[in-house]
This record gives sequence, C-alpha cells and structure tokens, in this order.
Amino acid sequence: MNTTLTLRQCSRVHSLRPAVLDFLAPSTLRHSASRQYNSSAPKQFLAWDQNSSEKPPTNSSKPKYVLNQQQREFLDSALRVNQAGELAATLIYTAQTPHVVRSHPHLRPLMKHMYDQEAGHFSTFNRMIAKHRVRPTAMYPVWQAAATFLGWSTGAMGREAAMACTEAVETEIGSHYNEQVREILSWEADAASRGEELDDELKEMLTTFRTIRDEELEHLDHAVENDAKEARPYDPLVNAIRLGCKAAIRISEKV
Ligand SMILES: [Fe+2]
Ligand SMILES: [Fe+2]
Repeated sequence: MNTTLTLRQCSRVHSLRPAVLDFLAPSTLRHSASRQYNSSAPKQFLAWDQNSSEKPPTNSSKPKYVLNQQQREFLDSALRVNQAGELAATLIYTAQTPHVVRSHPHLRPLMKHMYDQEAGHFSTFNRMIAKHRVRPTAMYPVWQAAATFLGWSTGAMGREAAMACTEAVETEIGSHYNEQVREILSWEADAASRGEELDDELKEMLTTFRTIRDEELEHLDHAVENDAKEARPYDPLVNAIRLGCKAAIRISEKV
C-alpha cells in the first residue's frame, strides 16, 4: 500500500520537475524542454571539451576547498555507481531496441537517441573513474547480465513495458544524480562560507552530473509520452524495477 502510494507520488516526477530542478539548474531545464532528437556522436561532458557549450573554469585567486575523507569516499562511491548505472542503461537499450523497433519502426530515432546519450554518459564515467583511480564495482558482470535480461524481457513484453522500464529506471537514476548534485552544492555553499571555492575539477564534475541528470529526466519524459503508463501490469512491473535499481545502487556504492 505504502509502496504503491510512494510510486504514484514518484511517477508524478514528470509534473514536479520544474519545482524540483529549477532550483538546481534553471537554464539547462529550459533548454531540455525544446531539445530535438539528435543521434549524432555521444556528447562528452568535460567542461573544457571542444564540443561543450560550457565555458572553461576561470582562474580565481580564492583558496580552494579541500575535501575531507568522507567527501572523497562519497565521490568514489558516486563515480562507481554512475559508471555501473550507465553500463546497465546502454545494455537495456541494446536489448530492448530490436523488439521495440520491429513492431514500432517510428520509435527507431527515439531509441537511438536515448542509447546514444547513455553511451556518452558511459564513456564519460569510464574516463572519470580511470582519471580518479576509482575501483569499478565488483558486481559488473552481474549488472551486465541483469540489465540485458531486463531490456530483453521488457522489450519482449511490448513498447509500453519497455517505456515503463525506462520510466522506472530514470525515476531512480534521476533522483540519484540529483542527490549527488545537491551534495556537491552543499560543499560549494560550505566553501563560500569560508571564503573558498571548489576546485575546477569538482566544478566540472558538478556540471557533468547536472547535464546527465537532465538527460535522464528527458528520457523519463519520453517514456511517459510514449505510453509507459499503459504497460500491463504497470504497478508490479515498475515497482520491481525501481526496487532492483535501488538495490543495485546501494550494493555498487560499497562493493
Ligand atoms: Fe545515462
Ligand atoms: Fe537514461
């Protein structure tokens, strides 16, 4: 009962988004609303990448905020979970797409668009965990198998179930990225209160997390627009996938 209620509340993330996210990223949100499908090569998110619209961090004379051990561990866990999650996302779409596109060819550009974005996210986190020497999750092979099975089975159930899978996954992942953004913003506020600022690497990470979060929530919107809520049985399916995502996140944070 409680779970169903919570799910119903969370499934309204779609309509709650502006209130929640304007606080965090007002400009990005407005842009994402008018975004068109674009299946070009996966975007890279480093702030000083040539393709990025973000400006390179400016040099400042303010002292840099030094992370404590707990904060460093938070980032390690975040990068490990994010990399595993993005791997799973690419595998889900890879397994779903043939089923969905066979019966609904008009969805090919949308499926490719979402896959391309996930592939971009995955390569971003692959680079980040290598750069920061973060250990990938030991559960990697398990998540690979689970994500492929999830994508294959929901794809075989039909377009609505495939979209419900995206809705469930993105509800969890979007709020997970949001928690990470909120945490780094709290460090930024702490730094400002001491007359310090985050170092450029951390600012870049914040930009990356915000951009990816907005793209995940864009996928959630696409899923709802494409009849995710018509999946049968909707509640058990979405509940089970969300529970699985939550468990995978908690396990990957540690293992
Ligand atoms: Fe993603
Ligand atoms: Fe996504």
